[in-house]
Parts: sequence; C-alpha cells; structure tokens
Amino acid sequence: MSLLQQNTSLKPYNTFGVDVNSSFFTDVSSVNNLKQILQKNIKPLLILGGGSNILLTKNFNGLVVKNNIRGIDLLDDTENDVVLKVGSGENWHQFVMYCIDHGYCGVENLSLIPGSVGASPMQNIGAYGVEVKDLIEEVEVLDLKNFSIKTFKNSECEFGYRTSIFKTSHKDKYFITAVTFRLSKKPNLNTSYGAIESELMNRGITKPSIKDVSDAVIAIRQSKLPDPAKIGNSGSFFKNPIVTVEELKNIQNEYENVPNYLQEDGTYKIAAGWLIEQCGWKGKKIEDYGVHDKQALVLVNYGGATGQQIYQLSDDIINSVKEKFNVTLEREVNII
Ligand code: EPU
Repeated sequence: MSLLQQNTSLKPYNTFGVDVNSSFFTDVSSVNNLKQILQKNIKPLLILGGGSNILLTKNFNGLVVKNNIRGIDLLDDTENDVVLKVGSGENWHQFVMYCIDHGYCGVENLSLIPGSVGASPMQNIGAYGVEVKDLIEEVEVLDLKNFSIKTFKNSECEFGYRTSIFKTSHKDKYFITAVTFRLSKKPNLNTSYGAIESELMNRGITKPSIKDVSDAVIAIRQSKLPDPAKIGNSGSFFKNPIVTVEELKNIQNEYENVPNYLQEDGTYKIAAGWLIEQCGWKGKKIEDYGVHDKQALVLVNYGGATGQQIYQLSDDIINSVKEKFNVTLEREVNII
C-alpha cells in the first residue's frame, strides 16, 4: 500500500516546474494498489503520468495519483512483428529506446517526446509524420466508477489530431493502466518528413537504421525544443489550427507564405508556431516566463513563474493571433 502524503509540492511532478501543492498525494505501482487508493474516494482526482502536458494554475484540493505502473510484456512474436503490452507508468522515451535496442520499428520518430506511455493515447502524441494511433492495438483502462478493467480497441479510441475519446466524451472516466502496441520487426522507416532527411544527409547516412532515425529525431528536437530538465515547458502549448480552404485563402491574400498542410478531409492545418511568431511573440521574455526563442509554440518557465502567469500569456497570444489572422488557437496542454 502506497503512502498517502498531505500537502505535497507538485513542482517535481510537472515539467513546467510550477510550484503548487496538492492536499493529498500518492504514487501507485500496480492496478491493485491503485484500486486500494481509489476506494478511499478522495475527490477530485488528478492522475499524473510524466506531468508533461499540464499547466497547474492553482493548488489542487484533492488527490493526485502519480502513475508508476511499469512493465513491458511480449504478448506475441511473429516473423514480421511483435505485440507488446506496456505499463502506463513507463517513461515514453525509455520505451522507445527499448524498442530500438530490440530492433522493433515504428516508434523511432517519436523519440524524446516527454511523458509516459499512458499519456500517449490520451492525446495521440505525434511527431515527424508519425502518430501513436498507427501503432496502438488497444488501451486497457480501469473504470473509475466501478473499478472494473475494460479494453478499448484502437477503432474505439476515436483518435484524431492530438485527441482521443479519453480527452473528449470519456474524459476523467478512466485511468489508463496499459497500452498494447504492434511494432514491426522489418524496418519500415518513415523519413519523408523534411527535417529527418536533411539531418540524415548531414550525417552522411544513406541507408539509415532504426537507431539512425531515432538519433536524427533526437538531434532535431534538441535543436528546437527546450529541455524540461533545464527550462520548464510542456512542449507545444497550442494545437496547429485546422482551417477551411476559404479561411486559408483569406490569410494567404495578405501572408503568402503561411505554412499549411492539406488534410485528408480537404481542410488545412496551419502552423501555429508561425502565426505566433508573426505576432511578435517568439523569444519574448516577461519576468520569469515567456515564449521559446526557437519554437514559438512552446511557452517556458525560466524558474519562478506561476501557472496563472503562463495561462495569462497564453490568453494574450490567443487574442493577438485572433486579431491578426482571425484564427482561434486551441490549447493542447491541459489546464488544471
Ligand atoms: N514555424 C515558425 N515559427 C516557429 C515555429 C514554427 O515559422 O516559431 C514554422 C516552421 O518553420 C515550419 C512550421 O511552422 O514551417 C512547422 O513547424 P515544426 O516543423 O516545428 O512543427 P510544428 O507544427 O510547429 C508539430 C508538433 C510538435 C512536433 C513537430 C514535429 C503540434 C502542436 N506540434 O509542431 O509536437 O514535434 O510538429 O513533427 O502538432 C508537442 O506536441 O509537444 C510537439 C512538440
């Protein structure tokens, strides 16, 4: 049974490094352990994985459960692929490294994404042309009402761009306990994303291995994104907005070079980082917080910022992008 701590600082448990307290705090390392804690019925409940996608704006008057459910089980191993069931509290990047060491292909483009395995389906993490939904077989959850275990097949998770059923209609109903992935034993690399190809070229690599692709992704991320161990941040703070062709044309009339990507449904995703940069926010520092100087999608805490200050900054950014481009940015990070 894990210890229930009182009045605990959450600073070490969120990558923004915001210092707020929770009334109760515990960590769990097994589903049984989790059930025991939940039976105490302390509300509200906040589940933390890596704490890399939240902004804490005030003290949390409830129970924070840090997920430490570990383990990687090989469920199936065929000529072409493997099926792995992974404890939701495993660190995402360490899981990616495990796959690369074992020659399992699929997750290499998602190297160095902060957070836990359990958070990966929640917001369908993605980078460099790959989304985790393409690799997930199913998601195992604990129902927070009746404490029964339930499994969602990939098709039931309603995955979309940085979203899933666990963020929308089923928000706060389940605790993700494990994620099952199908990965390929035959390298089927996806290097078409421009930055990866040029990084590999710079390194003189023409026939990349899984590890080469992972190393390239790590180098690209390190060059653009701040390391949360050094500067508090939560990765992309906003989603890239989706606009209609008419809306895109309106922007292009004035700003010809707005980066845009055609979606399968005929809409366009436009680069929020570019919009924010055009509004003059990139590299801006206010007191102890600001906008990262190499990627305007990332808000940063240089040390002593409060969640409220960072939230206010995000509001100011949303307002100025709306005014200049008539586009409404949506936050990707969960605000607590
Ligand atoms: N851009 C700017 N200024 C900026 C940032 C970007 O002009 O300050 C332009 C770039 O030049 C480029 C375009 O915007 O033309 C897209 O930029 P980038 O390739 O850096 O990707 P992104 O769309 O800004 C997304 C993900 C990242 C992921 C990268 C790489 C979202 C919200 N973000 O960023 O994910 O690493 O693609 O695939 O979809 C995260 O979710 O935390 C995250 C970092």
